[in-house]
Amino acid sequence: MHIVFGVSEYYPLVKVGGMADFAGSFTKKLASCGHRVSVVLPGYSAIERNRLNVKDTGIQFTIPIGKENVAGSVSEIKMSENLTIYLIENEHYFDRDYLFGTGDKGYTDNAERFLFFSRAILELAEKLPDADVFHMNDWHTAIALFYLKEYYQKLGKFTGVKSLLTIHNLGYQGLFWHHDMHLLNMGWEYFTADGIEFYDHINFLKSGIVFADEITTVSPAYAREIQTPETGFGLDGILRSRADHLTGILNGVDYKIWNPWFDKLIESRYSGKQFGRKLANKMELQREMGLEKEPDTPLITIISRLTEQKGIDLILPVFDMIMDMGIQFVLLGTGKSDLEDFFRGAEHRYKGRVVSYIGYDETVAHRIHAAGDIYLMPSRYEPCGLSQLYAMKYGNVPLVRLVGGLRDTVITTDRGMEQATGFGFEYYSPYTLYETLKDAVTLYREDRDAFQRLARNGMEQRFSWTETAKNYQKIYKK
Ligand code: ADP
Ligand code: GLC
Repeated sequence: MHIVFGVSEYYPLVKVGGMADFAGSFTKKLASCGHRVSVVLPGYSAIERNRLNVKDTGIQFTIPIGKENVAGSVSEIKMSENLTIYLIENEHYFDRDYLFGTGDKGYTDNAERFLFFSRAILELAEKLPDADVFHMNDWHTAIALFYLKEYYQKLGKFTGVKSLLTIHNLGYQGLFWHHDMHLLNMGWEYFTADGIEFYDHINFLKSGIVFADEITTVSPAYAREIQTPETGFGLDGILRSRADHLTGILNGVDYKIWNPWFDKLIESRYSGKQFGRKLANKMELQREMGLEKEPDTPLITIISRLTEQKGIDLILPVFDMIMDMGIQFVLLGTGKSDLEDFFRGAEHRYKGRVVSYIGYDETVAHRIHAAGDIYLMPSRYEPCGLSQLYAMKYGNVPLVRLVGGLRDTVITTDRGMEQATGFGFEYYSPYTLYETLKDAVTLYREDRDAFQRLARNGMEQRFSWTETAKNYQKIYKK
């Protein structure tokens, strides 16, 4: 099949979160299964073009945005025989400091930017060999599926082509005020509750949910949760109405990138059998980050976007109580400025015991997983979550709130120590988090063998892309 895959981030070119990892490894896998995969990505200035073999395709187009005709062009990067990345070029939209905006606020013209990008995917696809499936991801590209059905197919283009929307995060919907309707150049008849309207706003994600042939999301538990008012972000009703076409498929891990046995970014390589060699990573991290040299002190770690989704607000009220347990704490993250400020302050208050690395750094992420004892991920909601899967592979025992993909991937201690891979709690409160962490730290201190069994159990888990790709291919065939 020829799959046209639209996405707004792609590892290793540009990454904000897990969707980039998903896009990078999934499309590689699909191509290796023999499909032709055309990835379409905005030509952000953040992409380090001089390190890549970027070529101009000569393809140019204009897209009507309101009364204007906006010009764009297409570059390409050939990744392998079957896998090409097409960059949609437009300096005005994509030469920016961030992909979507700062941690506090999206760019005010995001409706225009991603409308342009989504329509550009279709314009480009007209010039490529016939597509079989359009596979779009999240709100940034969802609206392409609205245009596919209601504009291009009505003009007799892309007949028989089917579409799939993957929801990575229902919390971001691309909501814009109704005054932006003129940008779309589609009639007001679509601005209804069973169309693209949502409480008097235009909802890009919803337009994909309504017009896609099939919908997937990134774990079975999340597929159920988004159909309830608690986790449905107002879209639960429309998702229930599409339940026959909604499937939860768990993400995989690229173990060529995330494996402490091969990882060149870490100090000392190790495996479950040679677990002892993990310790050198902790000692090195303590040294390079200026933490006290205490190999026996539990090291609690977080690598995360600092947003409400990740449940970071649970940690703040009990942070001092957590530190009173005599632990060390390392955080790597960026996002909301109030959360960034809190952790900067914490580092200052607990010199030598807390390190807050406010920034984005792929290498440091690997080194923290290799060094860490406990990985905190108390998410408010979590579609899949890749960080806990990486943590497990590095024997950095996850402590999670049991929602979405976290529920589907972490086996908690109450299910028996023989098979457990981590700690979990359900009730969303700082005190429950605190109590669960206390149990974890106590186990670490009082029964190191049992604790290490958890870590090694986690290292043995396999969340393989082969399985995931099989499930997506079933949907494509359908
Ligand atoms: P989400 O996509 O919701 O952010 P995931 O757990 O699926 O959550 O994926 C997060 C990805 O982003 C992981 O690869 C994680 O290592 C990475 N990540 C998040 N914040 C940072 C950061 N500040 N520096 C480096 N990597 C980060
Ligand atoms: C989103 C979700 C995360 C998921 C990732 C990849 O960013 O927040 O849970 O793992 O997409 O699908």
